[in-house]
Amino acid sequence: MNAAELKAELTQKIEAANDLNALEEVRISALGKKGAITDLMKGLGKMSPEERKVEGVALNVMKDDVANLLESRQKILKKIAMDARLKHEKIDITLDSRPERKGSIHPITQTMDEMITIFADMGFDIHDGPDIEDDFHNFTALNFPPKHPAREMHDTFYLPDVEGKEGDEAKRLLRTHTSTCQIRAMLAHKPPLRKIVMGRTYRSDYDMTHTPMFHQLEGMVIDKETNMGHLKGCLKTMYEKFFGVEDLPVRFRPSFFPFTEPSAEIDIGCSKSKSELKIGGGDSWLEIGGCGMVHPNVLKAVGIDPDVYQGFAFGMGIERMAMLKYGIPDLRTFFEGDTRWNAHYGHDPLNKPNLATGS
Ligand code: PHE
Repeated sequence: MNAAELKAELTQKIEAANDLNALEEVRISALGKKGAITDLMKGLGKMSPEERKVEGVALNVMKDDVANLLESRQKILKKIAMDARLKHEKIDITLDSRPERKGSIHPITQTMDEMITIFADMGFDIHDGPDIEDDFHNFTALNFPPKHPAREMHDTFYLPDVEGKEGDEAKRLLRTHTSTCQIRAMLAHKPPLRKIVMGRTYRSDYDMTHTPMFHQLEGMVIDKETNMGHLKGCLKTMYEKFFGVEDLPVRFRPSFFPFTEPSAEIDIGCSKSKSELKIGGGDSWLEIGGCGMVHPNVLKAVGIDPDVYQGFAFGMGIERMAMLKYGIPDLRTFFEGDTRWNAHYGHDPLNKPNLATGS
């Protein structure tokens, strides 16, 4: 059989192949190791050089033509196969969900969404960072002295040292707070800055009020004239919106964090009776977070001139905020994955947090 005849035959077979398997068989019978075209190619060796020149070119052109025909037929067959699958595997999304299958938004996610709404309205945007951190971002850049107790094994989960590095440089850990992202945000962006960070944090602790993994919200503002008054006003506005309480009393108690100076614990006003805790007026106080003015050493660590810029930072536990707002008594239940708990405390996925509706 000569090249022209073979091409005619193969063209016919390619067109007749009506699924991908049949087409693959044709391909192997033409271009495979023992295929017809491969056979003809082998015959070139026996020809005289003049003959080979002419026949060789013709054969190669024919081989390319057949390969192109195979490829375009393959495209058509693939599309036919996909159309058939799409028709067959169609889901009718107009069907109602089954009530027993209805999912809900976890109170942590709901609280985060509410926080995002409130802070976005105040001009903050979101920064992010990894759960696995290094010593620099978790401690050194945040002005923790070398022997600070938080660096000890009993608080911090350390991972095996990074190979090929030594000392602090080799250390890897699960971040103990979201303050790591203060450093990340300041290294990534030039001031002025208004950032919030939300995410998982880890400390080796477990009882009614501590779980080894929990969530924090961190906020920071860096600008030229930012001061403690701005900090208090910002927090007061945020808590009022979050708890839906007007004129919420907020007080600062002096405290200590290596990365802020001065530092304060934040308390909000509440009234406590045996059976109820009410956020708002009243004569009791509830501790709800930590804050302060960003320490000049922290600004220096990220190359910001503390003589030009200053700012504040604050941090709080997201579970605690959710517990207070939604009356959830035990922290540990957040992470047990009990579907009855989820169904009870979960939120309707279609009900997105919105400032206009107050939640
Ligand atoms: N990182 C602190 C903690 O985990 C909270 C904090 C954040 C304090 C920002 C001050 C400023 O306890």
